[in-house]
Amino acid sequence: MTSDFPNLSVLNHPLIQHKLSMMRDRTRSTMGFRQLLREIALLMGYEITRDLPLTTERIETPLCPMDAPVIEGRKLAVVPILRAGLVMAEGLLELVPAAREGHIGLYRDHETKRPVEYLVKLPDPAGRLFILVDPMLATGHSAVHAVDVLNRHGVDDSQIRFMALVSAPEGVRTFHAAHPDVPVFTAALDSHLNENAYIVPGLGDAGDRLFGTK
Ligand code: URA
Repeated sequence: MTSDFPNLSVLNHPLIQHKLSMMRDRTRSTMGFRQLLREIALLMGYEITRDLPLTTERIETPLCPMDAPVIEGRKLAVVPILRAGLVMAEGLLELVPAAREGHIGLYRDHETKRPVEYLVKLPDPAGRLFILVDPMLATGHSAVHAVDVLNRHGVDDSQIRFMALVSAPEGVRTFHAAHPDVPVFTAALDSHLNENAYIVPGLGDAGDRLFGTK
């Protein structure tokens, strides 16, 4: 964590950093970009879930009974913000195949420039940790809105972690001003947003690069 950005963890594992640099390269193919994002999401998920509480369950190995450690509580929920969050969610689900998957669809209103919901489907919130995923934490407005949506559906901030591949300082500040208790995990804290709200140096439009659209 950095003191300028409380509750932000930059996951600077060498494998994550190497793969992110490959993604930033403008010549990376759609297939390569997608594959790398899945791989990074899995590695980030390993760090994000590091402190999940454990309990024990009585099992029998072929040799004897034992109290074996298992994750306590209900299955995790992975919630991508559509559409760019979908591929990150795939990586997390490879790591935690039993997780539930919700979806939050947001688009940007042309006039207000604010996010508007078009789809919300979520698993039962009781006793569950939610990992909200979006590759780019840029202005922070979608991230704030997505957490507001979770709150409205009964998910408390203490049950939420936010995972972004690349973040802008502006977005992290906006997000923490609205939801100071939601930890943010990112692979990189970049320099700034440009006049079109793209992260610099960033990697361009994550959705377009993931799905091969313009
Ligand atoms: N969304 C993106 O896909 N890229 C950015 O740089 C900012 C927002």
